[in-house]
Amino acid sequence: MYSGLVPRRWPPLSPRFPLWIPRRPQRKPRSRWALPRHAKPSLSSTIAPENLTRFPSPTAPSAPWDGDAGILRYRGYPIEDLAEKSTYLETAYLLLNSELPTAAQLKEWTYNVTHHTFIHESIKKFLDGFHYDAHPMGMMISTIAALSTFYHDAKEIFNAESRKKQTYRLVGKMPTIAAFSYRHSLGMPFVYPDNELSYPGNFLNMLFRTTEYRYRPNPTLEHALDVLFILHADHEQNCSTNTIRGVGSSHVDPYSATAAAIAALYGPLHGGANEEVLRMLMEIGSVQKVPEFIKKVKAGETKLMGFGHRVYKHYDPRARIIKRVAYEVFDLMGKNPLLEIALECERIALEDDYFVKRKLYPNVDFYTGLIYQSMGFPMTMFPVLFAIPRTSGWIAQWEELLLDPEQKIARPRQIYLGHDTRQYVPIDQRS
Ligand code: CMC
Repeated sequence: MYSGLVPRRWPPLSPRFPLWIPRRPQRKPRSRWALPRHAKPSLSSTIAPENLTRFPSPTAPSAPWDGDAGILRYRGYPIEDLAEKSTYLETAYLLLNSELPTAAQLKEWTYNVTHHTFIHESIKKFLDGFHYDAHPMGMMISTIAALSTFYHDAKEIFNAESRKKQTYRLVGKMPTIAAFSYRHSLGMPFVYPDNELSYPGNFLNMLFRTTEYRYRPNPTLEHALDVLFILHADHEQNCSTNTIRGVGSSHVDPYSATAAAIAALYGPLHGGANEEVLRMLMEIGSVQKVPEFIKKVKAGETKLMGFGHRVYKHYDPRARIIKRVAYEVFDLMGKNPLLEIALECERIALEDDYFVKRKLYPNVDFYTGLIYQSMGFPMTMFPVLFAIPRTSGWIAQWEELLLDPEQKIARPRQIYLGHDTRQYVPIDQRS
């Protein structure tokens, strides 16, 4: 699949640059089988509008999509500053509203999200219907889609108040549904949200509380989760974001569109990669076996999961921050035995010609799995931990799409490469 769509002007002059403009048809195709010069598989020559996440290169400010520099900003704020000074809820507000909140705005936003964390009791029954070993991402996809059957006002997508309400609900309920899915897999009773706790603190409470009268999250783990949530909040036109834009462009309600985005995130090449990294490290088994595994990667037999990125052709800036957070968690919980294997993979890959030539560096998923495992999460929860914070980015992108007067329903052009007209052959005459 490809799209022959390009921005009217490149580089764009204004952040709201006109997009999805049809490319003038080539007068003389080189051959019937040749794709137009700019056509590429995977929609990578298609530009979608986006004012949220940017990868600006300091040396080439007019090339905002340049990931070579390994710089990531949300609405202009460097990711490093947000990870150090902000909280997930504040960052989510920034993505959704373009500006950092004032103290009063943050208080109101936090109140509204916190007061939408409960789910309808019927949703609990719905969750109970899943088999005990259902993957929590499958449960998330279905349950988030089911929310649209509970909130009919969600269909009013051009009503600003309604969009706000659905945003509170989505950001507020994602951790609850995620935690309930996890508790269901253990056969443990659901833990209701605690409004006194922070966003990540409450999530830990709903996951891990057992007999305590009041759950008190460990501040190091609470902070680590908050930083991880900030780093995963938005990331340009990745597969799931592109999905919410594509599905959202049909003007469906935000719950159905978000469910589609979660489905896209589930895949092992996207949000499922952190789960795959851990499986890979366990399969390697020991530091001594790393060279043998790298040999297999270079022979094309397998991939080094957690390496490579469509945009970053340098160290993913999120991976750098995550590596630091990993050590904070390991100091508290003890070193993850798989860390040595991961470090050896990274050491060899960073020196090996195969990876250097292809500009393959660790991405956001390379170290997250190790942290999540040390925090006590089972592997199946890893992509869920990605989906929760990405919800704010998805909704911000969905809203940006809806409010852009130039947007229309997504419909990439197709170049048909199949047969010309043929005559129908009755079944008894087919060879
Ligand atoms: N291990 C080994 N070789 C690789 C890897 C890897 N992880 N990634 C790319 N390559 C090779 C690929 O085989 C190709 O080689 P050649 O030129 O000889 O055919 C070359 O590098 C270019 O790769 P590509 O497939 O054209 O790159 P892409 O931009 O299409 O793919 C990617 C990006 C992230 C899907 C890919 O790097 C990959 O599969 N990585 C492993 C999965 C992963 O870690 N995904 C998480 C991505 S970051 C978080 C997110 O977005 O969800």
